[in-house]
Amino acid sequence: MSDPRGKKTHDDMWDSGTHGLITRIAVVAALAGLLFGFDTGVISGALDYIGDAFNLGDIGKSAVVSSVLLGAVVGSIVAMAIIDRIGRRRSLIASGAVFIVGSIASAVAPGVGALDIARLLLGVAIGISAVAAPMYITEIAPAARRGQLVSFFQLMITIGILVAYVNDEAFSSNGQWRWMLITGVAPAIVLLIGMRGLPESPRWFMLKGRDADARKVLEKVNPTEVESEMAEMRRGIDEEKTASFRELVQPVLRPALIVAVGLFIIQQFTGINTVIYYAPRIFKDAGFGAGSAAIWATVSVGVINVLATLGALALIDRVGRKPLLYTGLAGMAVSLSAIAVSSMLSSGGTITAADLVTVVAVWAFVAFFAISLGPIPWLMASELFPVGVRGKAASIATVVGWLGNLFISFTFLGLLDLIGKSATFFSYAAVAVLGLVFVWFLVPETKGRTLEEIEEGFIARAKARLKD
Ligand code: BGC
Repeated sequence: MSDPRGKKTHDDMWDSGTHGLITRIAVVAALAGLLFGFDTGVISGALDYIGDAFNLGDIGKSAVVSSVLLGAVVGSIVAMAIIDRIGRRRSLIASGAVFIVGSIASAVAPGVGALDIARLLLGVAIGISAVAAPMYITEIAPAARRGQLVSFFQLMITIGILVAYVNDEAFSSNGQWRWMLITGVAPAIVLLIGMRGLPESPRWFMLKGRDADARKVLEKVNPTEVESEMAEMRRGIDEEKTASFRELVQPVLRPALIVAVGLFIIQQFTGINTVIYYAPRIFKDAGFGAGSAAIWATVSVGVINVLATLGALALIDRVGRKPLLYTGLAGMAVSLSAIAVSSMLSSGGTITAADLVTVVAVWAFVAFFAISLGPIPWLMASELFPVGVRGKAASIATVVGWLGNLFISFTFLGLLDLIGKSATFFSYAAVAVLGLVFVWFLVPETKGRTLEEIEEGFIARAKARLKD
């Protein structure tokens, strides 16, 4: 809004030289995803050194891994509280500032308590930005590029994880875990500065009754469809005013909520993050040495994750979501069982055929995850719901995802001690089999359907069920 005294405010300033606005929005999406991946993945290579530095056992190590996830649960709840009040843009700027403070604090932490608190803070930043960034992108990008930009966010999560692994390897020769952690400051600074130069989302302007400002942003990003976008946003906002949390569990919306929440539960309870966060430990158990060798094996996991996600992006609109989910879940069930069996046969000494099977099975597991359960829950959370409840519904599904992630990451090392590696991985395989049943009976195919058609499908099914 222009200042009445004629002073230029931020909302006028972004206007100067905005040709590359969409590109800059994509860069912001990229940075938020990159930071998500980096700050969750970086711990894998740093954990052993942190454990040595502070004399930690399994519980202490699990706490270092999980504090970030607890923070993310808090962050996604905070996001819901601030995102409408201060706006998407300022929420992202706030998350950038918290990312910077958290990265510095974790790198200089004098003790494990301080490290846990610093990692919790980083988690809050991740939680806020994982809600705010996809929402900002969805609301500001032209319709034709929305899906692409949301998927781009998941791709950047995997690239962030890979960057974290390579960064860990670079500092592993002397066990410099503090340097591993400080690297996250750089993208956070770019996010903070980059966001300052971008406009607020037009939809937020409309929410605040600032239609003229909304129009100004739309004229830049989508000049040919300003009127239709304005009308659509107005309709969405009217619907949202009447939508409450209670409505989300009403018969008409409940099936969509079950699908979105269910997909996030399956995403986490098949154990992907035991591999993403604890990969060096798994490879070390398979005889691949400590420190650097195990971290290099971990880098290979990061590469496969990125490549398979690229494959998913190419296939998702062509073959559809359900075929990818069937292939992915079946492949995950088989590869998780292979990890379970091979670790039973591993001698724990020199590398045997069973250990090689473990490595290949871990690779296969990650690839099958990345073509299916990696991107699809994020995608479906944004496409299954009517626009009026989309924000709230997506945030509930995300919070459940973080809680699942927290549960699995915190219990993993303890489970290895308690029931052993085989039983642990067999139980993840069992979840993958249940996931197949879930997809078969409950998940609709959304490929090539408009958001309205998806919504009508759910309503028709719910009405048919109510009649029975
Ligand atoms: C999940 C993360 C996971 C990542 C791995 C994301 O979709 O939400 O928990 O670490 O994929 O690529």
